[in-house]
Amino acid sequence: MKDLFDKIYKDKGPLGRWASHAEGYFVFPKLEGEIANRMKFQGKDVITWSINDYLGLANHPEVRKVDAEAAAQYGSAYPMGARMMSGHTDLHEQLQNELAEFVNKEAAYLLNFGYQGMVSTVDALVSKNDIIVYDVDAHACIIDGVRLHMGKRFTYKHNDVESLEKNLERATKMAEQTGGGILVISEGVFGMRGEQGKLKEIVALKKKFNFRLFVDDAHGFGTLGATGAGAGEEQGVQDDIDVYFATFAKSMASTGAFIAGDKEIIDYLKYNLRSQMFAKSLQMQLVVGALKRLDMLRTMPELKQNLWKIVNALQSGLKERGFDIGTTQSCVTPVYLKGSIPEAMALVKDLRENYGIFCSIVVYPVIPKGLILLRMIPTATHTLQDVEETLEAFSAIRERLENGTYKRLSASVMAAMGE
Ligand SMILES: Cc1ncc(COP(=O)(O)O)c(C=O)c1O
Repeated sequence: MKDLFDKIYKDKGPLGRWASHAEGYFVFPKLEGEIANRMKFQGKDVITWSINDYLGLANHPEVRKVDAEAAAQYGSAYPMGARMMSGHTDLHEQLQNELAEFVNKEAAYLLNFGYQGMVSTVDALVSKNDIIVYDVDAHACIIDGVRLHMGKRFTYKHNDVESLEKNLERATKMAEQTGGGILVISEGVFGMRGEQGKLKEIVALKKKFNFRLFVDDAHGFGTLGATGAGAGEEQGVQDDIDVYFATFAKSMASTGAFIAGDKEIIDYLKYNLRSQMFAKSLQMQLVVGALKRLDMLRTMPELKQNLWKIVNALQSGLKERGFDIGTTQSCVTPVYLKGSIPEAMALVKDLRENYGIFCSIVVYPVIPKGLILLRMIPTATHTLQDVEETLEAFSAIRERLENGTYKRLSASVMAAMGE
């Protein structure tokens, strides 16, 4: 009989196999210093384009003050227990009410972490007779929620409304047999490539099909829409999103998340979300900190304006220089280049060491083989000078990629790996 660990000893997985060359540099890098547009990486100053601090709240003095005061007042234990048992407070309730109002829904419920909250919400919304139809490029938390589902599920081609429609036809037939309903799940903004989910078109299909829509708006909340209420507001369909989700991990620069919708639906979820019923409540300093951040989202539109000034400068600068930034419709700024994984490693090393630019790198299997995706997240704390330096650096590394420099530099890595 095999030892359970045999497969682990033999195969570290598509990313894990690069660990000996990548860890500490390409993966699990340590960015040091205060969270800002410029930080330190391995002792060197770098412009940081990989932190989801869209509105620049992470290190805002007012936010830091409130966080520190709340930590001093409550410590990090309060309240003890799960919400349902002994972890409920007036401030949790106040935050839920304010979040609901901000995203224009009747009610909201706090989640300890976005990831587990999403998994659990998908789980709670469906029973085995129901059918889930979801975008094939959905975030892992949606996929893992769907994994818990005991009934049928269909994926539709990424952001492809025709494919969604076909799958809704299949799902409708199936639901008529099982006696269940249909849940459609999309993201508000797809975090890797930056396209908005086609919420308007999805909502239009409600005229033809009977389904409920669940939207993960992690990247849209705070960055899109006239008031910052997200992709639904931006596309004028917020009212037609049945369950809205956002995390505090991005625009709110914190930890925690929430779902929002009709009161009756949120009341149901409150009593059925296993991730919240069987886990400790969001701690008070995070709740107090989120109230402060939400207040700033509401009252300081300049934060979003500053963010978009940088987004526009970066995205138009890249396009003017002929870079392929795909079809982003959000702050997420991808740059697609052609090359192998070893070339991508050499290129990113050059960017960090010689040009002081730190951005995330995404390769196969997250994107197709032969493509390199450099993903940048602009924030309100970046400056136009940061953008200019970054554009110059990108032009330089593209030239080196095209003239084979990185192929040569990466050959030694390949040889060492016996590739
Ligand atoms: C689209 C999306 N959904 C959900 C999450 C998970 O949120 P959290 O970090 O709060 O667990 C993330 C990442 O933060 C995300 O990008």
